[in-house]
Amino acid sequence: MDYAVKAAQADSVKTDCVIVGIFEKNDLSAAARQIDRRSNGFLSRLLKQGDIIARVGSGKIIHNVPNIGAARVLAVGCGAAGKITAGDYQAICSGAAQSLKSSGAAEAVSFLHEIEVQGLDQERKLRQAVIHSEEALYRFDKYKQQQNKSRLQKLVFGFSAGKPDRASARALVTGSAIAHGMSLTRNLGDLPANVCTPSYLAQRARALSKRYPSVKTTVLETAQMRKLGMGSLLAVAQGSKQPPKLIIMQYRQGNPGAKPVVLVGKGITFDTGGISIKPAQGMEEMKFDMCGAASVIGTMAACAQMKLRANLIGVIAAAENMPGGGATRPGDIVTSMSGRTIEIINTDAEGRLVLCDALTYVERYQPAAVIDIATLTGACVIALGRFPSGLFGNNSELIEALKSAGQRSWDRVWELPLWSEYKPLLNSSFADLANVGNRDGGAITAATFLAHFTEKYPWAHLDIAGTAWKSGSDKGATGRPVPLLTEYILSNHT
Ligand code: BES
Ligand code: MN
Ligand code: ZN
Repeated sequence: MDYAVKAAQADSVKTDCVIVGIFEKNDLSAAARQIDRRSNGFLSRLLKQGDIIARVGSGKIIHNVPNIGAARVLAVGCGAAGKITAGDYQAICSGAAQSLKSSGAAEAVSFLHEIEVQGLDQERKLRQAVIHSEEALYRFDKYKQQQNKSRLQKLVFGFSAGKPDRASARALVTGSAIAHGMSLTRNLGDLPANVCTPSYLAQRARALSKRYPSVKTTVLETAQMRKLGMGSLLAVAQGSKQPPKLIIMQYRQGNPGAKPVVLVGKGITFDTGGISIKPAQGMEEMKFDMCGAASVIGTMAACAQMKLRANLIGVIAAAENMPGGGATRPGDIVTSMSGRTIEIINTDAEGRLVLCDALTYVERYQPAAVIDIATLTGACVIALGRFPSGLFGNNSELIEALKSAGQRSWDRVWELPLWSEYKPLLNSSFADLANVGNRDGGAITAATFLAHFTEKYPWAHLDIAGTAWKSGSDKGATGRPVPLLTEYILSNHT
């Protein structure tokens, strides 16, 4: 979809649809009030009759509003005036986009960014509006014979108080780039595992380099990984016919002296659990076990599209966890690239096994910070539910920066502890480390495992098992944490 800004008045603007906010207690936003006045109280009558409601995100298309320039009015519920959070604003923008999509309008002019939202300035409201609209319009219908096409093509943000400034236009560019990164991430996540293999991820990373020559992609194959001593990563892949890949995307458009930010994504393109096989119920969702990797690709794409002056490196540890004849057995001992030996007690704790070698590999970049992103543990979903991603790390500055970026982008995180008391839970009778602890604090013991491999740089770990995709009727990848990561990079490394 196309986005634009222009000076306009809600009551006179000529468009297929004008979008305005409605508040609780029969209160109208400034734009809605303009329309109401021009139409001799048309909106307030509908409000009193209960035809339009102020519940956050509810949308009502109204035809034939007298005396105004637009063919339709979309009245969007915004809740209580003055108390709108960034999360409410997300529901408001996506509710508006949903209603528009099915309305027959090809173009619309929105005034929703003119309502007051806690913690968001004008620029950020515009940026988030683009992101949330694209989010709401995303479809994964590639494999459906019948695809419902919407007529909607253009969303214009109307400025009632004069000409929009350059910062506003820039906000749309930033928002579009982040939205595209998210769509890319969602698309990769939603693809079935018979299509989205480690080789396919490598191919898509190469395609990104083609589109954005500022991104340089290299892919390490099995033989090269063997030479590097990545015995842990290779052990995960050995039960599958699909060869593993270590995908490296370098974007160095910042100050040549500035140390890079490194993103490391878990790219298990399907997680059967291996010999420690998972139960059948819900196993199809394990195609999403590469969403960390997808978020790395999406973030790199967003940053390249924005032409950020930053140094970024994305690394993806891609493998398929299958129980083939060559598969790793529980009790097998492997040697990681770091030299540490690992007793693989449970082959379903494979994410940490691929990540530990990737995390050792990235030492060579002398990173300013390393952030790994992984659908690592079901335990994280038990602990935190599906609203925040789990956050861990060894550097308080990095952790605080991620927390505040999460708040601003409404792609929130919640910190869990990495105390030394957890370390003995990973003791092995036969090797330096076991790959699992007991059931206690499963998200934390997983992060504790990773912490052994990240002592040489500032590091944060995002467990996105609860946030990377949705289950149930709106099943699908969410594109998180691309908003968090892009926000973090924008405000800390450009
Ligand atoms: N990919 C899973 C984690 C997962 C499970 C994410 C369900 C989202 C929903 C991971 O590889 C895994 O299997 N983890 C195990 C670890 C256990 C064996 C210590 C888990 O969470 O059960
Ligand atoms: Mn697993
Ligand atoms: Zn997994």
